[in-house]
Amino acid sequence: DLISDYFHDKTAFDTQDGAYKPIIPAPTNSSPLAIPPLLSPDKVTNDTTYCTIRAQQGTVQYFPDTPATNTWGYNGNILGPTIPFQVGVHYKITLVNDLPEPTTWHWHGLNISGPIADGGPFAAVLPGEQSTIEFTLNQPAATAWLHPHPCPQTARQVWQGLAAEVIIQDTVEAQIDLPRAYGTNDIPLVLQDRSFHNGQLDYDADYDVDGTTGNYALVNGTLNATYTVTQPVMRFRILNGANRREFRLNFSDGLPFYQIASDGGLLPQTVGFTRLMLTCAERAEILVDFRGYQPGDQVQLRTDDSTLITFNIGRMPASDYVIPDKLAPVEHLDDSSNHVDHRTVMSGMDAEVRLDDKLFDMTRIDYRLPINTTQCWEIENTNDMTGGMVHPYHMHGCEFQVVSRNGNAPFANEHGWKDTVAVNPGEVVKIKFRVRQSGLYMYHCHILEHEDTGMMAQYESFDPNNDQPIDITHYVHQLE
Ligand code: C2O
Ligand code: CU
Ligand code: CU
Repeated sequence: DLISDYFHDKTAFDTQDGAYKPIIPAPTNSSPLAIPPLLSPDKVTNDTTYCTIRAQQGTVQYFPDTPATNTWGYNGNILGPTIPFQVGVHYKITLVNDLPEPTTWHWHGLNISGPIADGGPFAAVLPGEQSTIEFTLNQPAATAWLHPHPCPQTARQVWQGLAAEVIIQDTVEAQIDLPRAYGTNDIPLVLQDRSFHNGQLDYDADYDVDGTTGNYALVNGTLNATYTVTQPVMRFRILNGANRREFRLNFSDGLPFYQIASDGGLLPQTVGFTRLMLTCAERAEILVDFRGYQPGDQVQLRTDDSTLITFNIGRMPASDYVIPDKLAPVEHLDDSSNHVDHRTVMSGMDAEVRLDDKLFDMTRIDYRLPINTTQCWEIENTNDMTGGMVHPYHMHGCEFQVVSRNGNAPFANEHGWKDTVAVNPGEVVKIKFRVRQSGLYMYHCHILEHEDTGMMAQYESFDPNNDQPIDITHYVHQLE
């Protein structure tokens, strides 16, 4: 069965505060979709893989007869390379800041220790300086991402171009018959929206306290992107990398597509869609079967009825590939107590947004929880259906499972791991999770302007057998 519901109240969505603004075609030529290169390591030894990620300034020529656009990127002009990580390998990563201001490298969806390695607001690297982090991943194969997280400059730095996809690989995923030739039948799609002012990005001019949106779609940093299909079945690793915009994905002719993974890895079962909504920071890996087309045909991937990418069908080899139904088992988190440990409330809009009635304060730890114990939280959005908005709830330091929405079963594609979940106006989403490492981690709305306004809090995870409370003043002082 194919799902053709975006799972939200359409009227509320279209009339929400901040007003829904459709994407329009950019006044420039179409260009082939950029495919980011894979990051290659500096050095691989027996026990460690070394990489460097440099945040830097660059330019992109977006418009003819207009000076090139000033942008920021990782190891390049805009966005960054796709970063492949293998579960079980030890990484040492040098983070170099060549920007004129402090930044951080946040590994969204990587379960690594916070507050420094995970790259939240405490992990600032000053201009001209560098730092080194290390970690070994222990989590399922997934599509994660890298973005800056300096509070309260996250939104502006992402707008300027900083974001990259991360592909986590493991032996479970490797054994499932899925397209995985990077750049050939397995490609990232980073979805964003931007406006330009005389060819330049101008965050302050476009700023909206309820989330900044742009007029034009950028896919992997490409305006008016086109892609020539030469593979019968493609795997797209879609990331909503927008500051504020939800993407309501569909193909122009209603072509079905098949979601195989959510934020934190493979779903237990493939789910077929003709329409799929992704809120900020959510990822979906989808398979698209192009075998029904003839060379010369065209089909668009759209958000609502605005084009994101035009696919030009080329020649492709014959294939009898069958999209798998069953994917990977998802670990069951025991929650027999059925007890809610914490309720987090997302309220307000505009400058009034709050998390648990408070604004973020770096010097305050909002919640403490024991490691290796299942936590059950309720996330509530108190906005109402008339004029309220969807708040995408995200947490660092773990992946979670959606238990219910207003007491009802989660959506069909919410049976795997997530780290970001859309909470609709008037909704309570129940989640469960287990944090495996002690440390300090953020939880927040992933509308980046809401996060920067202060719709964010932090939890400390501790080992109940060896509870050594974090001295937060130590981290605060390091920032001064
Ligand atoms: Cu992608 Cu704290 O965020
Ligand atoms: Cu994150
Ligand atoms: Cu929000």
